[in-house]
Amino acid sequence: MSFTIKTVGIIGAGQMGNGIAHVCALAGYDVLLHDASLERLENGIATISGNMARQVASGKLAEEARIASLALIKPAKTMADLAPCDLVIEAATENEAIKKQIFAQVCPHLHSNAILATNTSSISITRLAATTDRPERFIGIHFMNPVPVMKLVELIRGIATEEPTFAVAQDFVQKLGKTITVSADFPAFIVNRILLPMINEAIYTLYEGVGTVDAIDTAMKLGANHPMGPLQLADFIGLDTCLSIMQVLYEGLSDSKYRPCPLLVKYVEAGWLGRKTGRGFYDYRGDEPVPTR
Ligand SMILES: NC(=O)c1ccc[n+]([C@@H]2O[C@H](COP(=O)([O-])OP(=O)(O)OC[C@H]3O[C@@H](n4cnc5c(N)ncnc54)[C@H](O)[C@@H]3O)[C@@H](O)[C@H]2O)c1
Repeated sequence: MSFTIKTVGIIGAGQMGNGIAHVCALAGYDVLLHDASLERLENGIATISGNMARQVASGKLAEEARIASLALIKPAKTMADLAPCDLVIEAATENEAIKKQIFAQVCPHLHSNAILATNTSSISITRLAATTDRPERFIGIHFMNPVPVMKLVELIRGIATEEPTFAVAQDFVQKLGKTITVSADFPAFIVNRILLPMINEAIYTLYEGVGTVDAIDTAMKLGANHPMGPLQLADFIGLDTCLSIMQVLYEGLSDSKYRPCPLLVKYVEAGWLGRKTGRGFYDYRGDEPVPTR
């Protein structure tokens, strides 16, 4: 397949979707950004604008490049607006039913050569691909958060992913200046298979009273040289996303060692999802984050 990507569609304008749009535009791709919520779409574009302005202020981006890149990002109010895309990356909520519904809605609008990718943190690429009209042109492209800063992208083939699809995805990620690792299609791939059980264990440590939020994060920052504490990182990822990943690991590997901590479940049930909702293991509503336990 000789195939050049010119236009990239992104579905989901949350923290990952707007970050992916940001790096695609900086690399010169035309970007169409879609979200089910018009408000989230507008907020996503405003966030990209603010983040690019910060890059200019810190000398990482020229003002002309900021203006040119922002102009490449257009809102796509409907799925039909994604018709010109050569590559569509789904970056919506980590929920299998939502993702499958998105693919059912978008596929009829895409040209037959278009490649479909998902940024899922944990869900089977093979299973998602099987619900689309193009499993051979379906692939996992897993960016890290925050996308403009983090250097890694995991590429995951489903069982049906054809090599030309992989080659196009590889070339695309390289043009974004990211480093690729290839993971097999097992629950949560490499990064989250290792990272999320550690975060879940940190939440158990809090739940069992072994330490406070502050003690656990300080212990792992100063004792294990982690740049962020695991509870701070959980808030940054989003506690709903953390819980979904643990559920995928627990169910997908049928092993009780992946049981999501009941305290994580409780926080998600409370709507305390971390930074994005203003409260998680820390309360972000004041000037400084304050531990909630
Ligand atoms: N947060 C992380 O650290 C991280 C890292 C890597 C990958 N991911 C993955 O990226 C994806 C998005 O995560 P996020 O952190 O950006 O979540 P988020 O909650 O910030 O954003 C999700 C967005 O999806 C939108 N959405 C929901 N249903 C939709 C639909 N039917 N159609 C269109 N848009 C819809 C929501 O309105 C929201 O704006 C998930 O699959 C997650 O697992 C997250």
